[in-house]
Amino acid sequence: MRIGTTLTNYIIQNQRDIDGATGEFTGLLNDIAVACKKIADLVNKGALVNVLGATDSQNVQGETQKKLDVISNELMIEALRHNGHIAALASEEMDSVYHLPADAKRGKYLLLCDPLDGSSNIDVNVSVGTIFSILKAPEGVANPTEQDFLRPGTKQVAAGYCLYGPSTMLVLTTGNGVSMFTLDRDFGEFLLTRENVVIDADTKEFAINASNQRFWEAPVRRYIDECLQGADGPREKNFNMRWVASMVAEVHRILTRGGVFMYPNDARLKSNGKNGKLRLMYEANPMAFIVEQAGGAASTGQQRILEVQPDEIHQRIPVILGSRNEVKRLDDYHLGA
Ligand code: AHG
Ligand code: MN
Ligand code: MN
Repeated sequence: MRIGTTLTNYIIQNQRDIDGATGEFTGLLNDIAVACKKIADLVNKGALVNVLGATDSQNVQGETQKKLDVISNELMIEALRHNGHIAALASEEMDSVYHLPADAKRGKYLLLCDPLDGSSNIDVNVSVGTIFSILKAPEGVANPTEQDFLRPGTKQVAAGYCLYGPSTMLVLTTGNGVSMFTLDRDFGEFLLTRENVVIDADTKEFAINASNQRFWEAPVRRYIDECLQGADGPREKNFNMRWVASMVAEVHRILTRGGVFMYPNDARLKSNGKNGKLRLMYEANPMAFIVEQAGGAASTGQQRILEVQPDEIHQRIPVILGSRNEVKRLDDYHLGA
């Protein structure tokens, strides 16, 4: 499609190719884009509009919510609840599934979102983002339950994220490659700036929170040890490292110049009863879908992320994703190869 085309036009054009399309999907993506533009505006204004800092509440995961976590969640709900494009919504910031008001028209999709990813970065003016995942809603059900959301990532109809960085960018897959749009603030539209994104199969860059090193399991320890030995070690090349602590920013970097991102399970997480840190349905699945659509790979170390059958909406999962040869190597190390 033509570079510079608007997101709305891009979705309409794509939907024309789908038999039986009703425009509802176009409407849904438009709603999400509206919410993202509003969040982008607040992230951009920051202290000027008093949105920095924490609240005194915690989310269901026991994490202190930032003001912008709560506001972003409200903006997502606001943009979606009366437009008839979704049947229900689940978010990292809400204990249970959000049901639409009784008088609101129900749509055919379910939305899952991390309204503000990387929120520890808000107060230090570093990139944050919004992640979303779209599933089909069960037919004829007025108020879908948590059970209706528990589908593996392979069932996603679309997934994307909006990165609030030096530019605001919306990155989208509908299962037919990955496209990137940049927000032109002057006229308030996301414009197509890159199509058919491909992640290099090989890389010399990894991302992991190295402060957890003493808790890592053997395969991850081995992989990072070998990278750090650089040209003198078995990999025979020097590696670079990055850690932004915003998954959206890390995935965006990997889509742009390759790399491998890891948030593995570790002994400390395990001793707290957790299986990894990142959330399967709000973070791992949408990002895995995008990365695979760009030719990369996404794994737990044991299994393809998109094939994990979820047990509950807030479930956590170990995540390894990015350049496919590195993900394969990590899988092999996990298998004991
Ligand atoms: P969130 O702000 O939605 O809770 O997500 C933060 C996530 C992810 O974006 C990032 O990769 C990771 O947590 C950072 O974790 P550490 O602070 O442990 O490095
Ligand atoms: Mn997150
Ligand atoms: Mn979040």
